[in-house]
Amino acid sequence: MNVLVVGSGGREHALCWKIRQSPLVERLFCAPGNPGTAAVADNVDVAAEDLQGLLRFAQAEQIDLTVVGPEGPLCDGIVDVFRQHKRLCFGPDKLAAEIEGSKSFARELCRKHRIPGPNYWTFDDHLLARSFLDNRDDGPIVVKASGLAAGKGVTVCRNSEEAKVAAAECLEKQRFGKAGATVVFEEFLEGTEVSVITLTDGETIVPLETAQDHKAVGDGDKGPNTGGMGVVTPVTVMPRMAAQIESQIVFPTVHALNREGRRYRGFLYSGLMLTAQGPRVLEYNCRLGDPETQPLLLRLQSDLVPLLLATAEGKLASQQAPVWDPRPAVCVVACSGGYPGAYKQGVPIFGLGRIQTGPELQVFHAGTAKKGGDLQTAGGRVLAVTALGADVEAARRSAYAALEQIEFEGMHYRSDIGRRG
Ligand code: AMP
Ligand code: GLY
Repeated sequence: MNVLVVGSGGREHALCWKIRQSPLVERLFCAPGNPGTAAVADNVDVAAEDLQGLLRFAQAEQIDLTVVGPEGPLCDGIVDVFRQHKRLCFGPDKLAAEIEGSKSFARELCRKHRIPGPNYWTFDDHLLARSFLDNRDDGPIVVKASGLAAGKGVTVCRNSEEAKVAAAECLEKQRFGKAGATVVFEEFLEGTEVSVITLTDGETIVPLETAQDHKAVGDGDKGPNTGGMGVVTPVTVMPRMAAQIESQIVFPTVHALNREGRRYRGFLYSGLMLTAQGPRVLEYNCRLGDPETQPLLLRLQSDLVPLLLATAEGKLASQQAPVWDPRPAVCVVACSGGYPGAYKQGVPIFGLGRIQTGPELQVFHAGTAKKGGDLQTAGGRVLAVTALGADVEAARRSAYAALEQIEFEGMHYRSDIGRRG
């Protein structure tokens, strides 16, 4: 069969790397891809947002399965467009993808179906938002742009004064455009964060292994939030908490979407805070995480393609549960100087050739480009170095040893991924 992967980040490189290993796959394309995907797939010069262009390509090349990485095309309805033309496309349709596309919708869904999350308050009027902040007991609060903001729409504020600044960025200065026209204030939750990704066709629900992302840019979770600086998988979760995650969050979310007439097919990502009172939903994503995908796919031993195909066809019940390498994996992201703020692009990257990659160590490309045969930076998150190990410490050592071979001006990364107890 012929497969098309849509997207151009580290997650899509990992998807292409894994899909390429499937004996079912004849031709593999990535649109638009990056220099990493080019090594395992044919890159196609069509943007991930160009739904009609992607459809035309899928028709012309007789693509049997299109796999969408990022949320943008899913929220724009790529699955609906392909469905109208009888082309199989993996991922939730537009209605179901709203679980990520609108944080206010996701919060409403949880409230209505009693799925545990933080208390929250939604505003689209700046004066009302300010007056709410003036009248609450001071203390930490989280401010979120309701719409899609590339992982940058969330500010964890220490007090109401900081929250006013963050709210003004959305409602007054329109920093996120339409995505910030509604803000959600959330009760600040304390605990351990975990990413729980499940594969579901709306009936059968298959949880993947757990993963822990590190969102803040600096060691010890200091500094502003990013798209994700590094991941450890699996996460040790107490059995009681694991059961609660399934019965109070994952299953009820899929059923809630069904009851709302939004049958979900695809990867459903629940970002959770494991609090002393139990698991709480921080956010949902309508896709695989980036960089969670990179170490998860290094650990996945089963062929991914039949799982994707069965999910898209609504026949996930026909599949065996995926088999995982029991060994942990660690992923560390090398970023451009200045990220998550402004950064330079086109900076030459050195040292990749010195790294011995294989099934236990991969350097996934996230924001890279080739110019005249030379590799350079082309994004904030540049490379995701991902390693398996006998234990977390061994995986960590292997990932950091590889990372130390890589050089580019301004490069920075967290040095504490895998160091948490
Ligand atoms: P989100 O994109 O909504 O997951 O938010 C990004 C990050 O902000 C999360 O990964 C958490 O680290 C933090 N965060 C979001 N919501 C809350 C909350 N209600 N309480 C504490 N931290 C939060
Ligand atoms: N790593 C977090 C995300 O993919 O949203």
